[in-house]
Amino acid sequence: MTAQIIDGNALSKQLRTEVATRAQALQAQGITPGLAVVLVGDNPASQVYVRNKVKACEDSGLHSVLEKYEASMTEADLLARVEALNNDPAIHGILVQLPLPAHIDAQKVIEAISPAKDVDGFHIASAGALMTGMPGFWPCTPYGCMKMLESIGYDLRGKHAVVIGRSNIVGKPMALMLLQKNATVTICHSGTKDLKAMTLQADVIVAAVGKRNVLTADMVKPGAVVLDVGMNRNDEGKLCGDVDFDGVKQVASHITPVPGGVGPMTITMLLVNTLEAAERASK
Ligand code: GUN
Repeated sequence: MTAQIIDGNALSKQLRTEVATRAQALQAQGITPGLAVVLVGDNPASQVYVRNKVKACEDSGLHSVLEKYEASMTEADLLARVEALNNDPAIHGILVQLPLPAHIDAQKVIEAISPAKDVDGFHIASAGALMTGMPGFWPCTPYGCMKMLESIGYDLRGKHAVVIGRSNIVGKPMALMLLQKNATVTICHSGTKDLKAMTLQADVIVAAVGKRNVLTADMVKPGAVVLDVGMNRNDEGKLCGDVDFDGVKQVASHITPVPGGVGPMTITMLLVNTLEAAERASK
């Protein structure tokens, strides 16, 4: 079997067209959905990420503001900026790019963002809403994974989903989203004794560890769906995921590539959340 590729670029294009249409409808009411992206310091990877986020907004008709600050910015000053953005009616979504410099308490900053504008879905209120099935913003990467499963018409009811990784940003929210769709969910992590025994039982595997070749072909049940959240570099410096793509694609029924898989979906879901925030604010 050769797996069908779930193309994150193609799906993103489709979803971003829908975002642009909904943004136009808001625009007709005099509301332009606005995202504020706050970057502190000069982390090169963060600079690329925020540039991509701002460009994606522009391409879909969303207003965006990029605020860049020196790494020496104090926590108090950053909290004051967040508060000003909370009170700015032109801004519907606030994203403070992580990581923050070590002298700033990132969790404190995240908790300062109004939950109504928490388009990253990192606030405790957003996490609680996801956990209890209440309306709130879902973290963009696992949300994008759910959209990818939806795009292939995958019914999760009664399926066994194995999530590898337990971060607050991907693994844990991913597990809750899969659970909400009635999958039986197992979360694996660095303390898991026999990862292969777990993944071999899985109908769906989400790899979100940040390490190459965490999932190889011998660990995958034939016909499983494999989503690769990893973003790593191989020995030649090429971008690669957590999954041994060439091997696993011979066993899986569907697989996401890296690049061009989950990555573009993360930004797309940020646009969706920002639009949603603007729509909620307009009601
Ligand atoms: N750093 C890496 N990914 C992300 C993300 O999705 N949101 C924020 N705020 N920071 C990040």
